[in-house]
Amino acid sequence: MVRIAFTLAVATLAAGCAGTSPGSAATASNTGATAVAKLESTKGNAVAGTATFVQRGDEVYVTVNVTGLPPNTSHGFHVHEKGDCSSGDGMSTGGHFNPTGAPHAKHEAAAHHAGDLPSLTADAYGNASINFKSKTITVGSGITDVIGRGLIVHRDPDDYTTQPTGNAGPRVACAVIQKA
Ligand code: CU
Ligand code: ZN
Repeated sequence: MVRIAFTLAVATLAAGCAGTSPGSAATASNTGATAVAKLESTKGNAVAGTATFVQRGDEVYVTVNVTGLPPNTSHGFHVHEKGDCSSGDGMSTGGHFNPTGAPHAKHEAAAHHAGDLPSLTADAYGNASINFKSKTITVGSGITDVIGRGLIVHRDPDDYTTQPTGNAGPRVACAVIQKA
């Protein structure tokens, strides 16, 4: 008689398929990249100032100080397409910087031109200072990089609605945004 031995095979579980990879933090390779803009008045105006843009992770920290505005007024403030103030009236900077094909809107809106920044509000002395963070512009990399673009202060408030300008009127100060 032939005996048949049954051997129980022990199944071995494949190990480690679900290895956990640490979530990579959103640290842009250009963290620390800095740009500056020296705003100079266009013809017939006396508005001047400075703006600084610093990339930190996926955010850009923006600091702006402007003088020479009429007291207690609001002013449209945008990054424009071209870093060219040569026309003297700011028009050589072209339209709002819009690399993503978005509509003109508030900086806080879900969709807006990359160049749509928060408006400037002048105090009783005609000075305006703002600090804000943006995830819709970048410094030193990507299609939303502000380096080499224009920066414009307008005479009038931005209505955030009129396309594609916000109806903010003439350009009273102009700068080229430059790598620091
Ligand atoms: Cu503008
Ligand atoms: Zn716009």
